[in-house]
Amino acid sequence: MKTILTGIRANSELTLGNYLGALLPMVRLANQHSNEMNVNIFVPDLHSIIADVDGNLQKNIIRTIKYYIAAGLELNDNVHIYRQSYVPAHSELCWILNCVATMGEASRMTQYKEKSEGRESCNVGIFDYPILMAADILLYSAEYVPIGEDQFQHIELARNLAMRFNHRFQSEIFTVPVKTSEQVEFMGLSDGIRIRDLLNPEKKMSKSTASENSKIMFDDEPAKAAKKIMSATTDSLGKIKFDMFNQPGISNLLLIDALVMDSPLQDVVSTWAGETKYGDLKQKVANDVSNMLAEFQSRLSGITDQQVLELFEKGESYANNVANAKLFEAQKAFGLR
Ligand code: TYM
Repeated sequence: MKTILTGIRANSELTLGNYLGALLPMVRLANQHSNEMNVNIFVPDLHSIIADVDGNLQKNIIRTIKYYIAAGLELNDNVHIYRQSYVPAHSELCWILNCVATMGEASRMTQYKEKSEGRESCNVGIFDYPILMAADILLYSAEYVPIGEDQFQHIELARNLAMRFNHRFQSEIFTVPVKTSEQVEFMGLSDGIRIRDLLNPEKKMSKSTASENSKIMFDDEPAKAAKKIMSATTDSLGKIKFDMFNQPGISNLLLIDALVMDSPLQDVVSTWAGETKYGDLKQKVANDVSNMLAEFQSRLSGITDQQVLELFEKGESYANNVANAKLFEAQKAFGLR
């Protein structure tokens, strides 16, 4: 059986970007394919600790899985839910891949460059992050990895490491994930998703941005989220058009609405063609986002910690079996076993 796999770090509340770029597409794909594919949804808790954690990590790990369930994830025997740090093979394979990856390719990762920029010192975890991510994927022979556009470079790295390892040992030990263009196609999209910062739409919406009005968080009161949309930065061109280059603010709102309403972007864009009132567009997006949040938050409150802990227990037993078997093949190739 083929495998679809993804993870979301559990540092703080999720943003609308995480939800629309990764969580919702994963839930839709999982529900579509979990009768014929393995669906691995894990919490990369070791990735979480590259940033400051505030004493709430345990709570946030559990909440991340609740989010998938509240977003409509249907559970069955092919859906495996686990925590990265409960499957030690991830760290072990990361070390092995560290000895396959080069300093040059790891230094070229945009996310590393962005996260380390301007810092006097930066932890080694930030640098090694994509190698651990490659281990997360390769241990389970996952071909499909639904993620947002900012992670595409890491998928290409995982592909390169898998191919290099296989070539070095003249083996087929690792399944090479499909190219990012095919990942996008598998997600039913024409482009990767990048939800923009509401105040600075040239940048992606990120949980680490200081300004509250730049991002919508999943615990925002629906009315507060609506206000943030109403105050989003637009432009002075006075036409509603999808053009990320010249009108990133307006385009971001169109994209958000399409994803929230699960409508093709093209349909949403043609509905607004010829319209000029930005206020009307903002009002529509604000209503749709706040309704979605209200519904989501009410479903979330009905999911218990115990439910999630039971899923972890079952998923981690599965994950350790699969991951240890793959790790053993990699260890044997190097002569470690
Ligand atoms: P994280 O937690 O930083 O991001 C989680 C997911 O959210 C997507 N995302 C966005 N998508 C669209 N627009 C945005 N503004 C936006 N912001 C975030 C990210 O692309 C990501 O899909 N390294 C991963 C976690 C990870 C992982 C893995 C994923 C660790 N190992 C293995 C897949 C497979 C990450 O960045 O998480």
